[in-house]
Amino acid sequence: MKKLPFLTLLVLFPAFLFAGEGMWIPMLLQYNEKEMQEMGMRITADDIYSINHSSLKDAIVLFGGGCTGEIVSDQGLLLTNHHCGYGYIQRHSSVEHDYLTNGFWAMNRDEELPCPGLSVIFLREMRDVTAQVLDGIDIEMAEADRQAKVDANIKKIVAAVEKETAYKVSVKPFFLGNEYYLLLEETYTDVRLVGCPPSNIGKFGGDTDNWVWPRHTGDFSIFRVYADKDGHPADYSHDNVPYKPAKHLDISLKGADEGDFAFVFGYPARTSEYLPAVAVDQEANVIDPIVVDLRGKVLDIYNKYQEQDPKVRIQYASKHAGIGNGWKKWMGVTEGINHFHGVEKKHAFEGEFQQWVVGARNRYMYLDLLNQFKKNYKELEPYQLAYTYVAEAGLRIELVSFAGRFAKLSEVTKDTPQDDIDKSVASLKTAAESFFKDYYQPIDRDVAKMLLAEYLKAQPADFRPAFLNDIKDVDDYVDKLFDKSMFTDEAKVNALLDGFKAKDAKKLANDPAMKVYQSLIGFFRNEVHGHIAAIGSDNARLQRLYMKGQMEMQPDKRFSPDANFTLRVTYGKVEGFKPKDGMKYKHFTTLEGIMQKENPDIYDYVVEPRLKELYINKDYGRYADKDGTMHVAFTASVHTTGGNSGSPILNADGQLLGLNFDRCWEGTMSDLIYDPDICRNISVDIRYVLFIIDKFAGAGHLIDEMTIVE
Ligand code: ARG
Ligand code: ASP
Repeated sequence: MKKLPFLTLLVLFPAFLFAGEGMWIPMLLQYNEKEMQEMGMRITADDIYSINHSSLKDAIVLFGGGCTGEIVSDQGLLLTNHHCGYGYIQRHSSVEHDYLTNGFWAMNRDEELPCPGLSVIFLREMRDVTAQVLDGIDIEMAEADRQAKVDANIKKIVAAVEKETAYKVSVKPFFLGNEYYLLLEETYTDVRLVGCPPSNIGKFGGDTDNWVWPRHTGDFSIFRVYADKDGHPADYSHDNVPYKPAKHLDISLKGADEGDFAFVFGYPARTSEYLPAVAVDQEANVIDPIVVDLRGKVLDIYNKYQEQDPKVRIQYASKHAGIGNGWKKWMGVTEGINHFHGVEKKHAFEGEFQQWVVGARNRYMYLDLLNQFKKNYKELEPYQLAYTYVAEAGLRIELVSFAGRFAKLSEVTKDTPQDDIDKSVASLKTAAESFFKDYYQPIDRDVAKMLLAEYLKAQPADFRPAFLNDIKDVDDYVDKLFDKSMFTDEAKVNALLDGFKAKDAKKLANDPAMKVYQSLIGFFRNEVHGHIAAIGSDNARLQRLYMKGQMEMQPDKRFSPDANFTLRVTYGKVEGFKPKDGMKYKHFTTLEGIMQKENPDIYDYVVEPRLKELYINKDYGRYADKDGTMHVAFTASVHTTGGNSGSPILNADGQLLGLNFDRCWEGTMSDLIYDPDICRNISVDIRYVLFIIDKFAGAGHLIDEMTIVE
């Protein structure tokens, strides 16, 4: 009887027992080393992460707070994705200097473009501080007391370590609060744009191909990290010098064959692999479909205007990509979860768990866990919906969220020091400048009319902000709002900001767009947030307990903690997959496929003439595969998520094979449930990247800096 549950588990969750799933902590990689080497790896865990000598980790950075980058020369040259550098490329772009369309290549250091606001973070060291953080904690403690004790312990630990280091010190929870690790990090803030291909290459396939295989995107951009003369972080200065890393990545020109071992080293942002069935069901079948529907309607409006006017196309390019990315992904999550019977499988696992719980008396603390989850998620749902509409329908209106940036200034009084006022005014002037550079009012008006109508239709009166309940005719209301608000007009905003005094605050507060913002935020603060926070905190407690229970129940399983924007190693094989009965996807694509997709009338599929010329002449130099073709992208069974974009994918010798940039549509549910049969990450082949830099752009001086292994 005892054995039975375990057997059924094997059948239900084969994924748990094979490689592929798991985002591993680099400092604990020795526990995976044997398996990695059995799969083909020829280096050691110590070559990947070490604090005693230089290791691959010294070449990996968190890029711009949301992506991964890697250092590929001893002169601080950095590679990441085109879509990760996109915002910075866009900020340097205008109709006259359209780097988005034409690409950009610095032919010498002086031409490199500073990127204010961009930073990269190196992890210098990690330590397990679980015992110190959980000192004095016991399971019977009330949640608030527990949190207070944890916070106090962390504060003490951080203060002690800060005395011995100049690095930034922080402590983060892992395994949903069952373990804690300390991180020592160093942030570099002088990072300059060195090169990027035209969007026809860097974004080839655009949002149409996004999340989809087969893929042909040259998704890379190049930056350089600068430091002061001693190699320390320093704000931008002409006197700064290229950063000399302890390690930069070697680049392989050999490519990878099906079945080859590969690993990704980077910064996955967030996964939730240990949620109960109710939570997965709510996310995939209630919340995600609403977000998908609302965003789809916003994108329809963007598309209409973007197609009409090249200026608007540039203005809304980044916004479109951002909204469209989530839209498509969550569509895939819902499909994947349902196709893969994810909720049912979680239910079945919970049945096994419950059986295990009643199998011994000392498991009493888990007894009511799953019931409490059910109760909590049911209670949470209306508030979660309310939040979704505030964020996706209310604050999606650009006018409203822009007005919101002035909320603090609208509350100043005659007692506020003029110095503080001047500071806010200065930063708002910058905000206004970048807002109006990319604002097109007709789009926002249409979006507002559509979204408010949807909001009214979907949410009951007592789950709406007050301003909505006063609306009689949506179109008329929106037109008046846009006509009367000053926040649609750059000149009016600047006129008010110039010489702003406390007495002007009223003008801001009385603006109709500010009133809409305040109504939305007030509703969220007073009627939604408290519920979400209270239930969320109880769920966090349950989740921590559930994690602990799962680990006790499967003592032989190697668990990996959910992603939390810390450096991780994930590994698997270069391989294609079978998305559906009767179909098999190959693991790589070639330049041939770009020509097959070519369509001069469709923006996403326009091919650069120069690229075509290289293709016709088969002018691939040393970057061609041994099969003679130019490989563009490839898939692998490596567990990745958002934040892994730009991460290096490396071969058995730890050499760079490519840059991770996406996943296959069929497997986007991998943030909730990973299935090694259908979850695949997508990378751009490093040989295609070098080919574009060298042959397409003639920027061979950059290749000369790199260490290439033929
Ligand atoms: N889906 C990828 C990721 O989540 C790439 C997104 C950028 N590409 C795009 N076409 N929007 O970030
Ligand atoms: N495209 C994602 C990123 O930007 C990666 C992913 O979600 O697979 O991080």
